[in-house]
Amino acid sequence: MISRALRVPRARGETVRRALQDRGILRHGVRIRVDQDDLLLPLVDGAELPSEWGSLETAEFPPAAEPPARDYGDLLRETADRSFALPRSFDVIGDIVVVRIPDDCAIDPHRIGEALRAFVPGARLVGADRGVHGPHRIRLLERLAGTGSWATIHSEYGVRLQVDLERAYFSPRLAHEHHRVASAVRTGETVFDLCCGVGPFTAHIARTRRAGRIVAVDSNPDAIELLKRTLAALPAGGPVEARTERVEELLAGSEVADRAILNLPHEGIKYLAPLMGRVARGGTIHYYEITPRGRREDRGKELVSESAEGSEWRCIDARRVHAYSPQSDLIGYTLERRE
Ligand SMILES: C[S@@+](CC[C@H](N)C(=O)[O-])C[C@H]1O[C@@H](n2cnc3c(N)ncnc32)[C@H](O)[C@@H]1O
Repeated sequence: MISRALRVPRARGETVRRALQDRGILRHGVRIRVDQDDLLLPLVDGAELPSEWGSLETAEFPPAAEPPARDYGDLLRETADRSFALPRSFDVIGDIVVVRIPDDCAIDPHRIGEALRAFVPGARLVGADRGVHGPHRIRLLERLAGTGSWATIHSEYGVRLQVDLERAYFSPRLAHEHHRVASAVRTGETVFDLCCGVGPFTAHIARTRRAGRIVAVDSNPDAIELLKRTLAALPAGGPVEARTERVEELLAGSEVADRAILNLPHEGIKYLAPLMGRVARGGTIHYYEITPRGRREDRGKELVSESAEGSEWRCIDARRVHAYSPQSDLIGYTLERRE
């Protein structure tokens, strides 16, 4: 049937689908469509939506074979008793779904994997997240359902990132942060992206074409190789030097930036003071750290007061990026050096 539809990037699809479902404006009886990197979510007639949710269009939808599942637990059919706990959230990275399964979960993880693969439109492979390990923060994944490799293309705000979860760290939960920081870059700035991973900050910034120079470093050569592939496919990116290099090596040199990103949440603090000395007056550092809930304002002040370089700096923002544990959050601190 023909229906009005909301077009959203696939990575945001599940969040938006749930919100539409909760507002009672998701059309039932037809199947959600996948269109390249986007989902088309069918809407009931007369549905009103804020424009920032996505763009509206009219599209043809195939009929749903069965009543639509409200959540993926509906697809685990021993559901006369729905009291068992299922993981509530999962990440969608390109065509891969990553789910963290609690140790006390009573359901066979492979059944959860099959249910998620059937539930998430366009899902090819489902893995259980067994934590990040080693200096390169590689995620250990147990294959639960589906086929193929852990390599995929993940789209954020239209930036197509080369990702390989077996070879390099990537989290889709920072998409808004990647976009926000890129939007703050001013014309001609030199930007350091330290611990860049597969380079989502760098790719977003390169796409704006405002930076004069971007230096992206990571100690993992595979991450840098993936970043180079992402950059090669950008229509006309800014000037990027993507280097397999340790932060220590860059900081031992003499290069200076107008803006620096330091996203190594458990250990980055050891590089913050030296980095402060390598950012020009009027410059900015975007620094990420896991912070106990309720402490971010104080922690922002500490970051500058505890550093020998800090007297010239102030923390102008401490924003919650996402929850990290029941008691802590990943916080993005924006530090500014006085003119
Ligand atoms: C949390 S990830 C950050 C990824 C990226 N910034 C993002 O937003 O997706 C941390 C990265 O730091 C890298 N890393 C760890 N220690 C490093 C060091 N001393 N020098 C350079 N890179 C390092 C790891 O290889 C990993 O890719």
